[in-house]
Amino acid sequence: MGSRVCVSCFVAIMLLLMASARQTDAQLTSTFYDKSCPAALSTIRKAVRTAIAKERRMAASLIRLHFHDCFVQGCDASVLLDDAPSINSEKNAFQNFRSLRGFEVVDSIKATVEKACPGVVSCADILAVASRDASEYVNGPMWTVKLGRRDSITASKDLAEADLPIAFNDLDAQISSFAKQGLSVRDMVALSGAHTIGQAQCATFRGRVYNDTNIDAGFARMRRRGCPVSDGNGNLAPLDLVTPNSFDNNYYKNLIQKKGLLHSDQVLFNGGSTDDIVTSYSKDKTAFYSDFASAMVKMGDISPLTGSSGQIRKVCSVVN
Ligand code: HEM
Ligand SMILES: *[C@@H]1O[C@H](CO)[C@@H](O)[C@H](O)[C@H]1NC(C)=O
Repeated sequence: MGSRVCVSCFVAIMLLLMASARQTDAQLTSTFYDKSCPAALSTIRKAVRTAIAKERRMAASLIRLHFHDCFVQGCDASVLLDDAPSINSEKNAFQNFRSLRGFEVVDSIKATVEKACPGVVSCADILAVASRDASEYVNGPMWTVKLGRRDSITASKDLAEADLPIAFNDLDAQISSFAKQGLSVRDMVALSGAHTIGQAQCATFRGRVYNDTNIDAGFARMRRRGCPVSDGNGNLAPLDLVTPNSFDNNYYKNLIQKKGLLHSDQVLFNGGSTDDIVTSYSKDKTAFYSDFASAMVKMGDISPLTGSSGQIRKVCSVVN
């Protein structure tokens, strides 16, 4: 009797293991569109390059879009959905509202790809490819993008507000928000290096430049000038004061000089457990690039919809 129970236990455990292996594999592969839409990757790449040539900041905005997609119910393009009767748009989450940008660029890439191969390439994959192409265009790391994600038919403003990190985070909060997505402390420090490009609004760094003590005095004075105490919430400042338009490891050098723009940037180098990683990236651009690339691939793997789950949207901002 005892041994028969164990045999069925064994079978049950094997079945569970096989099922979970199939799920975590997620079936993403870099060759996913090779037969069904051979022009997909070159079409996206060309459109991304055109958009960034027109406005350099778009590289930053596209990378951020993929991040804000993946952290909320996985990399499923939920971030692109507009409000609708059954959709509570993530665009209105406080981390995204009047802040997340690049939607028109994604819509136009999607329209071009749809012309070449109608109904084949997902919006979630377009975000993943566009962020790799954007990084490459501004001299950042390159990596092979895994493909085969499908698009959600739902979005969640509540989940976005709960899961997207905020600029006032301390180190522990930031570590746990990445851990919740299966990302390590090292992944978190590497991915934060995306703040080597792009801009932030005064409202996100006001508290830091007026009240933080772990900030370079001259840097704080300079940023206060563009960010009045009770005005100018939308005024922009570069996240990397040295080379805001180029991907490099200056972000980490800034942190060591206490010139991180956001409170959540400076916590990475503030006498805590991540100081050593920051120091190593500040000295070794190659190590940063290699860790950033693997962390982007890992982030792109967060809970994709595959197989027959979800759908391939025709227009990224609405479900079919
Ligand atoms: C670690 C936690 C993070 C926090 C708290 C955070 C927060 C922010 C904030 C507050 C802004 C400025 C938004 C605005 O003022 O409109 C911003 C911009 C940006 N973030 Fe992050 N972020 C984090 C991680 C990341 C990651 C992991 C990536 C990508 C891999 C990323 C990419 C960017 C980029 C590229 C911009 C500039 C966007 C633009 O200029 O349009 N961030 N982030
Ligand atoms: C700085 O801190 C003080 C005291 O907590 C607070 O009253 C004030 O609003 C803060 N200033 C900014 C710009 O955040």
